[in-house]
Amino acid sequence: MLVLGIESSCDETGVALVRAADQGIPRLLSHALHSQVDMHQAYGGVVPELASRDHIRRLLPLARQVFDAAGCGLSEVDVIAYTRGPGLAGALLVGAGGACALAASLGKPVLGIHHLEGHLLSPFLSVDPPQFPFVALLVSGGHTQLMRVDGVGAYELLGETVDDAAGEAFDKSAKLLGLGYPGGPQLSRLAEFGDPSTFDLPRPLLHSGTLDFSFAGLKTAVWTQVRKLGTNVCEQDRAHLAAATQAAIVEVLLKKSLAALKQTGLKRLVVAGGVGANRSLREQLDLACGKRGIRVHYPELALCTDNGAMIALAAAMRLQAGRSRAVRDYAFDVKPR
Ligand code: KG4
Ligand code: ZN
Repeated sequence: MLVLGIESSCDETGVALVRAADQGIPRLLSHALHSQVDMHQAYGGVVPELASRDHIRRLLPLARQVFDAAGCGLSEVDVIAYTRGPGLAGALLVGAGGACALAASLGKPVLGIHHLEGHLLSPFLSVDPPQFPFVALLVSGGHTQLMRVDGVGAYELLGETVDDAAGEAFDKSAKLLGLGYPGGPQLSRLAEFGDPSTFDLPRPLLHSGTLDFSFAGLKTAVWTQVRKLGTNVCEQDRAHLAAATQAAIVEVLLKKSLAALKQTGLKRLVVAGGVGANRSLREQLDLACGKRGIRVHYPELALCTDNGAMIALAAAMRLQAGRSRAVRDYAFDVKPR
């Protein structure tokens, strides 16, 4: 089974080809990605209309690229998968429309995929894939969730953020620190030069006894510190504050993940979503889990943020597991929320 996957939920156009047998982990044949970061940078965030228009420009050239790289043709595709949501409505419609138009022209079936399921399963494409069951920490720009995962489509939500997502906390704090978009990677780079103990920032819900998260208060605390430092803030103080912010976010993610592992008794942790690329988070999870005999699995760094490979993979794994059926119904819809 050859699956073409298309991702267009936000500011990255991703296309990929995955080959799957009846069983076993599907194999990534090729993937191509175009990031719109440069285009949105001038606006300090994603401009939805510009995002949609750029997805339109990029989709077919990227598709051509993955077929060339894999050495196969469009007619060989068995299923076309696309991100159905969540994401920006216009951006999602481009991917869904493109996928359904291609599929209709070939008479091939389509399958809409939940973006987060793509992230969740993406570590299966790594050199060290996990085995079910595991605890998953999903940390992206829009979501922060802990889940018990018993198999493809067998997900139990253990806890989630009650307000901002972890990536949002990174991005909003970065903005307050005068850093550009996307803030997460920039804040984490600046944090390398700072001492996290210089500022005392809150760890909301750390001792709540639940597996829920809250990051809105942290953003307010960062704002208060930025205001206190005033307009003449020096580079070193900004680095200290960046380090303190990162330390607060990482500590909460770490402690809640350990609590989820303890609660479920599971010995495997999967970390997925853009924030999973954060070096400090990886180092601290590896250290704490190593001490407890827990294996931690991440996607390849290149597949941590949005990409088409995870969508093709999730489609292939859902089909293998009999959790979904691809259909020749091209009246597509998208689910932004
Ligand atoms: O999964 P993703 O690419 O898109 C969503 O589905 O939201 O995640 C994007 C988020 C952004 O908030 C970005 O700032 C954050 O992931 N991010 C990071 C890092 N790389 C990306 N946050 C902290 N450290 C990083 N290295
Ligand atoms: Zn994502």
